[in-house]
Amino acid sequence: MNPTETPRIIRVAETASTNRYLREYLQTEKLPEGSVVVASFQQAGRGQAGNTWESAPGRNLLFSTLLYPNFIPANRQFIISQITSLSVSDTLSQYTDHITIKWPNDIYWKEKKICGMLIENDLTGQYIYSSIQGIGININQTEFQSNAPNPVSLKQITGNTYKLDEMLDQFLQRFYRYYIELLQEKDQEIHNKYMRHLFRGTGYHPFREGDRTFEAHIQAIEPTGHLILKEKNGTTHRYAFKEVHFIL
Ligand code: BTN
Repeated sequence: MNPTETPRIIRVAETASTNRYLREYLQTEKLPEGSVVVASFQQAGRGQAGNTWESAPGRNLLFSTLLYPNFIPANRQFIISQITSLSVSDTLSQYTDHITIKWPNDIYWKEKKICGMLIENDLTGQYIYSSIQGIGININQTEFQSNAPNPVSLKQITGNTYKLDEMLDQFLQRFYRYYIELLQEKDQEIHNKYMRHLFRGTGYHPFREGDRTFEAHIQAIEPTGHLILKEKNGTTHRYAFKEVHFIL
């Protein structure tokens, strides 16, 4: 990060999607690295695989951060998911136990989803030019309309109400710190920490691939983000995101 340029924090009451807002903003004006767009409400919050992201007005953290990680090759973009996931899991772990990272970048409390992220990278040639990390963390919402995928908020877990600005601040401190570690080429340390915080990171668990269900344990996650599962009979398989599903 360029120390002479202070990241901007842009607050909007309402927008379709903070990822989209940030992308459109960048078409007319360049923002310093580390800048953030945070909204109280999204009319069309986007989730992974074309899903929508539910969030009641003013209850949760909805934001997108901006990086220019032009030192990261395109086939290593998963490291951005890892630092973003760790920043959220470290932040939430200050308030409750049982926070884990469900491959590739959902944040879970026990068997429920407390945070989702949508990372959108812009490539130039073999490297990343800009990267937007869109993050939705369920903080103070107490009822969810859609039951997919098994949402939970911090308030539902602890009974307390939280100040969204303080939570964002805590996230950002950690996120910037992890990003500096990336600049210092501490990828392996970051990856080791990501693996230590994995959802179902030890033991055998049920998975589904198409119509087939099977038990396996997570043997590794490659720098490309592929998941390596080892079945009880010793066979290993390599999966890209969405090619295999945890059975909850
Ligand atoms: C998922 O499906 O798990 C990803 C959800 C990502 C939601 C966040 S909320 C802020 C940002 N803006 C969006 O439209 N989506 C992301």
